Amino acid sequence: MAQIDVSDLTIEYKLPKSDGVFKAVDSVSLAVEKGEFVTIVGSSGCGKSTLLLAIAGLVKIAGGRISIEGRDVDGPGQDRSVVFQEPSLMPWSTVLANVRFGLQMRRWKKDDITERAMRFIKLVGLEQFSDYYPHQLSGGMRQRVNIARALAVDPTVLLMDEPFGALDAQTREIMGEELLFIWERDRKTALFVTHDIDEAILLADKVVVMGRNPGHIKDVMQIDLPRPRNGEIVDSPQFVEYRKRLRRHLHDDMAAMQLVREAV
Ligand SMILES: Nc1ncnc2c1ncn2[C@@H]1O[C@H](COP(=O)(O)OP(=O)(O)OP(=O)(O)O)[C@@H](O)[C@H]1O
Ligand SMILES: [Mg+2]
Repeated sequence: MAQIDVSDLTIEYKLPKSDGVFKAVDSVSLAVEKGEFVTIVGSSGCGKSTLLLAIAGLVKIAGGRISIEGRDVDGPGQDRSVVFQEPSLMPWSTVLANVRFGLQMRRWKKDDITERAMRFIKLVGLEQFSDYYPHQLSGGMRQRVNIARALAVDPTVLLMDEPFGALDAQTREIMGEELLFIWERDRKTALFVTHDIDEAILLADKVVVMGRNPGHIKDVMQIDLPRPRNGEIVDSPQFVEYRKRLRRHLHDDMAAMQLVREAV
């Protein structure tokens, strides 16, 4: 049995100012194995965030089901950590206090909390900044704190929605490599939404390509590149092939959007 099992999932949002609904995700099925790193790509509005939020238990399911280790998801749970595009740190607390907070909420033993929080702060390379406040850090550093907090609670599943989306290209690349380095150590099951094709391939065991109107899965690409990986792999012939295939998919989607626009 897969660790995360999404079957025939449909999500609908209530339309504003009417009784109607908008189908954001339509009959999506997806199996994620324990320890797998899955990235999700697709054009804007195809339901990537909605799918992730549904797995996080943060939106209502209209049809189908999601289960994690055999248990149905019917709300948020301690087995899942979520990292959003914008770091959501408590501005009045230090880096250490922010990472500790997640552990306190999950009732880790008091004595272990600081030690464990520091271990993960160190893992993301911020041990010299543990008593800094979020406003004293750069965007990339803040997102690293966010990732440390998400990992420290030892979730079964790590859900990330464009966690590097707000960063410049260079920082983003560094963060991607760093995340890989961290992930290689304990191989948490991870779902990662991104707009960046190279990032999607570099990180993934498989890339899920979504299409729109309504949101569905178009393709699942298995990425058979050796691990551990680093940024240099993007020039390998196999990587270039994957990139071509993904570009074609996304290009088809954009072309379809263009046709719709021309028709109206
Ligand atoms: N809370 C909401 N209420 C109503 N409609 C919503 C809501 N959230 C999302 N939608 C709609 O659902 C569709 C999918 O949105 P979603 O945010 O999942 O897309 P996405 O693939 O994450 O896009 P992006 O790449 O731009 O982040 C969109 O058409 C969006 O307008
Ligand atoms: Mg989104």
